Amino acid sequence: MNRDDFLLLNTGVIYFDNAATTLKPKCVVDSLNDYYLKYSSNIHRGMYDIAKTVDLLYERVRFVVKEFVHCSSAKEVIFTSGTTASINLLVFGFMKYYLKPGDEVLLSKAEHASNILPWLVLAKEIGFIIKYVPLNKEYKLDYESFLNSVSSNTKVVSLAAVTNVVGDKRDISRIGKYCRSHNILFHVDGAQSVPHEVINFNLDCIDFLSFSGHKMCGPTGVGCFIIREDLISMLQPVFYGGGMNDDFSSDSNLVLADPPNCYEAGTPPIAEVLGLGAAIDYLNDIGLDVISKYEEMLKKYLLEKLSSLSFVKIFNHSTDSGIVSFKVDGISSNDVSKCLNDFHICVRAGNHCSKLLKEDSLSSTVRVSLYFYNTILEIDYFISILEILPNIFKVVES
Ligand SMILES: Cc1ncc(COP(=O)(O)O)c(C=O)c1O
Repeated sequence: MNRDDFLLLNTGVIYFDNAATTLKPKCVVDSLNDYYLKYSSNIHRGMYDIAKTVDLLYERVRFVVKEFVHCSSAKEVIFTSGTTASINLLVFGFMKYYLKPGDEVLLSKAEHASNILPWLVLAKEIGFIIKYVPLNKEYKLDYESFLNSVSSNTKVVSLAAVTNVVGDKRDISRIGKYCRSHNILFHVDGAQSVPHEVINFNLDCIDFLSFSGHKMCGPTGVGCFIIREDLISMLQPVFYGGGMNDDFSSDSNLVLADPPNCYEAGTPPIAEVLGLGAAIDYLNDIGLDVISKYEEMLKKYLLEKLSSLSFVKIFNHSTDSGIVSFKVDGISSNDVSKCLNDFHICVRAGNHCSKLLKEDSLSSTVRVSLYFYNTILEIDYFISILEILPNIFKVVES
């Protein structure tokens, strides 16, 4: 990996907001340009050469994704606009027809809004029950609490593999195996994990997986929903239109296109899908194992340095991802973030779209989220600014 691949890093910006979105390497932007400048045609429609080229490039990405997440077939890969769209497809295209009144769905209060709100809305309509697995004092989910939360009515478990506020890495493999052996469907929100470490859809007994391209060096506006092959026939489209049907007539007869095309109505985000392919090729070239080891080293260093600042309260000392959430005594998280911005350091402040954590007394933190292009030097600089922060605010107030 070459930091020069990321033009923004040459501007002096220290980018520590990778959980929100990552930077894009030049090869990803080049792939978008190539599409728009060299073969900008629609897919699955044209018989001419450039249209056929784009068809092949687009469908190649499905195979690239299949290999990347280790599912069984490219048919299981549905392109969406991102994790949010994927979970909405799961909830309103599958669960709407699967869940019955009194069934239980297990979530946690550390989930992102995208993995809570669709469930809340459908639960109101259908009358299934949402249960939240209790979190420990570092807002992590222990396997034991998961087990204690399961009942004979549990039909679905939907959890992030890594949470976005405290970076809790769940034991996906163990939970997946438990669910598979107890006839419980298991959805993994992979938004914060797929970009950072290997996920094995088949081995981990995952039934549904959602993730976003823009959090893994890819473009915005594209993501994936992976569904276990034998469940595909139970998934109803939520969007109808061109590209998703083989035929229809005025008497309401509709013949759907074969999966996965029937779930990709309208012109899909073609450039973005190609960009996602370029991003995955880029990550594969570096190696997800190399990425996760390097991030582990960076995170340990960051935690060690942050812990030495007496006025900093860290909420997730035992984080097992590159996400660290903290507060600075006497200074609001927004002010910390604004002040760091004056030194060209980008961090996020607030609730990070996980507003149920407020109910467990965690609100408005400063979040640093690392990626493989961050460095020890950047962390040192960040710590040196944090060290003077209380003085800056004293001066401002006096
Ligand atoms: C854990 C998690 N799930 C879902 C999402 C939503 O992703 P998107 O906005 O790309 O749809 C995010 C975004 O931050 C996230 O961190």
